[in-house]
Order: sequence, then structure tokens, then C-alpha cells
Amino acid sequence: MNAQRTDRLERMTVPGFRQKKQQGKKLTVVTAYDYPGARLVDVAGMDAILVGDSLANVVQGRNTTLPVTVEQMIYHAQMVMRAVKHALVIVDMPFPTGQLGPSAALDAAARILKETEADAVKIEGGQSRMETIRTVVEAGIPVMGHCGFLPQHIRKMGSYKIQRDRQQIINDVLALEAAGAFAVVVELVAPELAAEVSQMVTIPTIGIGAGGGCDGQVLVFHDLLGFADTPPPKHVRQYASIFDTALTALENYKNDVEGGNF
Ligand code: KIV
Repeated sequence: MNAQRTDRLERMTVPGFRQKKQQGKKLTVVTAYDYPGARLVDVAGMDAILVGDSLANVVQGRNTTLPVTVEQMIYHAQMVMRAVKHALVIVDMPFPTGQLGPSAALDAAARILKETEADAVKIEGGQSRMETIRTVVEAGIPVMGHCGFLPQHIRKMGSYKIQRDRQQIINDVLALEAAGAFAVVVELVAPELAAEVSQMVTIPTIGIGAGGGCDGQVLVFHDLLGFADTPPPKHVRQYASIFDTALTALENYKNDVEGGNF
């Protein structure tokens, strides 16, 4: 019955996604990495699913997103695509495919779109990625930008912390719009600054740890649903504790089987 919830909705498109900002409507984005996760996010009616390279952290148990490969992104995006009827699907370009220059980035983006049939890719970086993003967009591949904290630059940036270089963040968001990005993730930026840059551009800003002045928000599926047995990052409002719920269910199952009650 729940699965019918999104059956009435049309498939979200890149122009439709942009239009929601013009209509003053907030955009909802959640990550997903597999069929059941994407099914839940899609049936809940989210505007978009990000197949994030954060799968390194929450699925693979790694400390950084750096080891994720194009093949892994494609593998996860294919599972997501089989589940989705409504949401726009955006796939992260894994390190270092967005950093190797326009030609290599276009090759990787085209491969991702061809093999997954997703709608768009996301490339980390702002001003310094302008040429790359312009090349990929001109080839007909929609690009979501990503500025503020850049997880693929963790070695350079040191740790997950609020980014305070006001002029750089403004330059990055303006550059991403000029390069043709259809939206931009704004990660770990002070809410006042995120709200200010959101007013400066016509493309939607999708915040994470950037406050309600953005045009929408993206959260990591496992963080918002509480899959871990450790507290989520500070900026996350956790809406469930799946770890606790699943643990109780598994303990009940174990007791039942051990007691011959099956
Ligand atoms: O990989 C990811 O999930 C992301 C979000 C943190 C925006 O890039």
C-alpha cells in the first residue's frame, strides 16, 4: 500500500528540480546506496537521491571517501536505479575523477550515466572545477556542484569543520552557477552565509550542516535513520534509531530460536 504513495507522482527532472526553487519550495534530498534504501527514500517522496561516495563511510566502514572507485559507484547506482520511480538520481564522481581535468572527468561522467541510466553526476569543488563542469555540462550531462567542506579534500582540510572563508564560498557558488551546474551542495557553512549565497544564485543550494536558509537539504540515509551504534555528526537531526530497533528484533529472534520457539 505504501509503495503506491509515489506511483501518482511524475519522475523528477533536472528542470523540475530547478523550478522548485523558483516556486519557493524547499528541496528534499537523501542519499541511498542500494535497492531497499532507495525504495524507502523514493516511496517517501524525496525530490532526489544522491548515490554519495559517503558509501565509503556508512556501507564500507572506511574513514574517508578517497578509496571509492568508479566501478563501485556504478554498482551502487544500478541498485538504486532499479528501485526508483520518482526521484531524480545523482551519482557522485569518486576521487579523483572530478580532479583530473575536463577530458578525464567527461569520460568518467559519461561512463556513469551510460552504465547506470542515472540523471546527473556530482563533482566536488567550486571555482577550480569551472572548466571541468562546463565541459561535462556541454556534453549534455547535468552536474551538481559541491562547495564548502569537501570530503575528498579531507587530507588538505584536516577534519570535518565549518568552512569560514566567506569570499571563497561566494566565489565558488557563483562560479558553479556560471559553469552550468544545475544545483550546488553547500556543506558545513555557517547558516547566515549559506542563506546569503542562496539568495545570490538562481540554482538551488542544497545544504548539509548549513542551516534552513538553503533551498533544500541533503542528509546521509544512515545518519538520519540512526543505523550506527555511535552518535551521528553534530549537524544531523536523527529521525529514528534503526540500530536499536533492529538490535531488539535480532535479540528477540535469537531468544526465540534458542528457546525452540520457531
Ligand atoms: O557523499 C555524500 O553523501 C555527499 C553528501 C555529504 C552531500 O557528498
